[in-house]
Amino acid sequence: MTVRTGAPRTAVEVPVEDARALRRVLGRFATGVAVVTAMTPHGPRGMTVNSFASVSLDPPLVLFAAARSSSQHGAFARPGPFAVHVLGEDQRAVSARFAAPGLDRFDGQEFVPGEDGTPLLPAALAVLECRAEQVVRAGDHDIVVGRVGRATKAVDGPAVRPLLYYGGSYRKVSDEYDGDIDWSPLLL
Ligand SMILES: Cc1cc2nc3c(=O)[nH]c(=O)nc-3n(C[C@H](O)[C@H](O)[C@H](O)COP(=O)(O)O)c2cc1C
Repeated sequence: MTVRTGAPRTAVEVPVEDARALRRVLGRFATGVAVVTAMTPHGPRGMTVNSFASVSLDPPLVLFAAARSSSQHGAFARPGPFAVHVLGEDQRAVSARFAAPGLDRFDGQEFVPGEDGTPLLPAALAVLECRAEQVVRAGDHDIVVGRVGRATKAVDGPAVRPLLYYGGSYRKVSDEYDGDIDWSPLLL
């Protein structure tokens, strides 16, 4: 069935039971890309996520969702420290490395230990050192809520450009809106 929306776009309803089709709908929400890391008794672990979100400023809380089926799930779905690295547009290879199944992701990967031993990756646009406070079961994922203990950002400048994920592909920011929104059509 096609449905007319307000904007000059034609919409198609998809069955929510169809996971692949639903994923394509959810892929219309553009996100940044982050790598979460944690130290475990078996060594450093990490995975690429785009479910990262800021939650609260006071107290400072962030979240991401970890697939329960992931080999990395156990490293994050527990109380303890982890770090979030917000990737820049030149870090597609880092994203790919930390999403690759069956690879030792830290093999040849440069990192330094944070204050609590969490592996910190170089060159991210922002790094949030956190401690998981809540792990909430949500279907086939667990939502990890972390309190931010330390926040670092790359110094502002032309090289600070985010890696984006949209429609199942990596993207770059291409345009910035110039000036303010024209509100006049809303003013009677
Ligand atoms: C751009 C991108 C975003 C992703 N976001 C998530 C996410 O939010 N949560 C998650 O559990 N996996 C996410 N993944 C998938 C994991 O990175 C990947 O499946 C996992 O690390 C693969 O390892 P495994 O097969 O050993 O579990 C994402 C992958 C990519 C490329």
